Amino acid sequence: MKPLKYALWLLLLPAWMGLSSCNQSATNDGEDFGNLLTSPQGLLLTEEEHPEGWGRAECTLCHNLENIHLENRTGLPIDIQAIYQQALDEGLSSCASCHGTNGVVP
Ligand code: HEC
Ligand code: HEC
Repeated sequence: MKPLKYALWLLLLPAWMGLSSCNQSATNDGEDFGNLLTSPQGLLLTEEEHPEGWGRAECTLCHNLENIHLENRTGLPIDIQAIYQQALDEGLSSCASCHGTNGVVP
């Protein structure tokens, strides 16, 4: 394996393990994929960066709504608490307005 790929795995593995340990205690900083604005399409999901979740409408199979939107990592003047609340209030119907269709054909 090339060193760069290896380094990528070291970064991704903890993120993945974080996702798979769903029902653990609530106090943490939530899911962390770094600053989403530095990914290819910003907040919008692409197949390349979201291979496991691509094409799936049921985001909550893998993402716990209470465990995301906990910290503003974008550096933008956004109200992350309002986003957290909106995702909880409006549920799955809200996700696409900020993250795109995720490859789901309506
Ligand atoms: C089958 C599991 C699964 C489903 C379903 C899923 N995701 Fe994901 N999601 C992941 C994983 C795993 C990651 C970590 C990045 C990766 O390896 O794909 C991720 C990462 C993300 C990220 C961060 C992307 C980035 O730029 O790093 C966002 C935003 C996201 N998901 C939103 C959603 C939304 C919105 C839905 C529903 C439309 C959804 N996910 C459905 C597994 C899933
Ligand atoms: C009003 C816009 C908005 C809505 C609606 C929204 N998100 Fe997000 N989401 C964001 C922003 C902005 C970030 C980046 C937060 C940061 O790290 O600064 C984010 C980050 C994420 C992440 C990465 C983990 C994290 O906490 O940073 C996931 C996963 C995610 N959203 C899933 C979802 C799902 C699933 C829904 C629908 C239930 C949803 N989002 C609805 C704006 C939104």
